[in-house]
Amino acid sequence: MAHPKFAELEGKKAIVTGGATGIGRAIALALAAQGIKITICDINPDAANTVAQSIGGHALEIDVRKRPSVDEAFAQAVEIMGGCDILIANAGVSTMQHALEITDEEWDFNFDVNTRGIFLSNQIAARKFVAQGHGTIVNTASLAAKVGAPLLAHYSASKFAVLGWTQALARELAPKGIRVNAVCPGFVKTGMQEREILWEAELRGVTPERVMEDYIAQTPLGRIETPEDVADVVVFLCSNSARFMTGQGINVTGGVYMT
Ligand SMILES: NC(=O)c1ccc[n+]([C@@H]2O[C@H](COP(=O)([O-])OP(=O)(O)OC[C@H]3O[C@@H](n4cnc5c(N)ncnc54)[C@H](O)[C@@H]3O)[C@@H](O)[C@H]2O)c1
Repeated sequence: MAHPKFAELEGKKAIVTGGATGIGRAIALALAAQGIKITICDINPDAANTVAQSIGGHALEIDVRKRPSVDEAFAQAVEIMGGCDILIANAGVSTMQHALEITDEEWDFNFDVNTRGIFLSNQIAARKFVAQGHGTIVNTASLAAKVGAPLLAHYSASKFAVLGWTQALARELAPKGIRVNAVCPGFVKTGMQEREILWEAELRGVTPERVMEDYIAQTPLGRIETPEDVADVVVFLCSNSARFMTGQGINVTGGVYMT
């Protein structure tokens, strides 16, 4: 498939958190194809290195839950690339459980990575963007940030919070020329989905095949989403074609959710 080329993105520099696998990996590849220098920051340094090598980028170990780790990795990324114009805050985790059985540990795990991780990475990158007078942020939220997802109440809550943060930050930074948006993917074929299908099958007492059929049945465009479906929209959000968009949570779900 031919991809549009956004000439203004050539030579820009981007940090992609959670870029070692899945959606983040596809975003890193799609941004690199636009001529953007990439530093992948991930808790899995081996997988991050493999992706970085394939696109002539760099990889750094990070734990987005911890301020010193984000501070250090982002400072290093800026030094290596000679700056940073784009943050893709994509690192995320999920676990599945009936709402009445969710433990404190599960709640904290989802909120620490998905919500605190977005807060820390956005704040640390945005301080630099404000100081330099430009920059743009795209956060990976979820379909579950728009509509409560059964067996994912804690995950849903953590992703609703991402959209609240994205909107508020977008309002504060708009006068400084910095745009902050989010993408809300649906049922995307990644390692996270493989894990969720097995958990959901067990919790619902159905086969994994049935879970997959149910995902497709909920999707008007009639197939499972690919990481590239999300990455193409993220590239657009980083480009000047999205210059009048900020504070948005863009659904990329094949029509599962439409408002
Ligand atoms: N797969 C889906 O259906 C789907 C749907 C909606 C939203 N999302 C969101 O998309 C994002 C990417 O998920 P994915 O499906 O590609 O899953 P994935 O498991 O393939 O990728 C997640 C990446 O985040 C990294 N990561 C996890 N914890 C981290 C931490 N503490 N610090 C730094 N990196 C960390 C992992 O190592 C991995 O590379 C997540 O935010 C997820 O919530 C996924």
